[in-house]
Amino acid sequence: MNAMGRVSIVGAGPGDPELITVRGLARVRAADALVYDRLVAPELIAEAPAGAERVFVGKARGFAALDQRDIEALLIARARDGKHVVRLKGGDPYVFGRGGEEVAALVAAGIPVEIVPGVSSALAAPASAGIPVTHRELASSLTIVTGHEDPAKAEVAVDWEWVAASRGTVVVLMGLSQLPRIRDRLLAGGRAPQTPAAVIASGTTPEQRVVTAPLAELPEAVVAAHLAAPALVVIGDVVRFRELLAPSALHGVPIQGTAPDDSRIEPGPALFAATTPTATRRLTGGRHG
Ligand SMILES: C[S@@+](CC[C@H](N)C(=O)[O-])C[C@H]1O[C@@H](n2cnc3c(N)ncnc32)[C@H](O)[C@@H]1O
Repeated sequence: MNAMGRVSIVGAGPGDPELITVRGLARVRAADALVYDRLVAPELIAEAPAGAERVFVGKARGFAALDQRDIEALLIARARDGKHVVRLKGGDPYVFGRGGEEVAALVAAGIPVEIVPGVSSALAAPASAGIPVTHRELASSLTIVTGHEDPAKAEVAVDWEWVAASRGTVVVLMGLSQLPRIRDRLLAGGRAPQTPAAVIASGTTPEQRVVTAPLAELPEAVVAAHLAAPALVVIGDVVRFRELLAPSALHGVPIQGTAPDDSRIEPGPALFAATTPTATRRLTGGRHG
């Protein structure tokens, strides 16, 4: 029998293949078997050694290539064959990625396992769209929430009234299909209809598209722009910074590491006046030094 192998659960980052960590890329390059999800950049899959086994286990349009328990069984079986298995997951493995379930299964099976954190889309997609998720003057907290809870769960865990009452930034993952319901819950919970909001699709990739609108109008703006998954929602005053910090605000000069071409961005209903040199002061209500 072979010596016991091991499993590295690696965050692949938000879409741009350059946003994997140094350690994550090293693990991919050393893999005997690469088990990967749908949102992993193809360039990263190509980084595995030529002889490595590659297994796609992702989900697309509700169809799952492999059930979660089957994925865990596959990781265990390959490690017991003595392989170094790299489980490559979109963004960060522990941010709505079921990484915790996979680690628990591996630990229970006695398989050595390590976690290599990744850059989550929850932070990187807003950054790539010119939106800082916190700001000293505008948002002191950040809530990352799922817009698509497991229907099999006995109790609904997301307390939308509490989310609405928090005064900070809200980032909703997996929320595109539920956007009208999420908007309604946040408005019912007391968020102002004019709260700046954005949907970012394919953030950090050349296909990145962004729609901004007041919260009350966001679902209709997204439908009109034909945005497709993967996409996330950002709600809060920090969205105002997009006019100042998005690549388009820099007169078309691309910033390395951000989506180079902002010309495909759909602005949606006009939210903000033109950018001015004093925009930061205006965006923060004059409180910013
Ligand atoms: C199952 S969750 C996994 C999140 C992942 N673990 C992370 O940290 O980014 C998938 C959701 O993440 C969001 N997402 C992932 N990549 C994205 C991207 N490049 N742009 C926008 N949203 C993205 C979408 O909301 C998508 O439905």
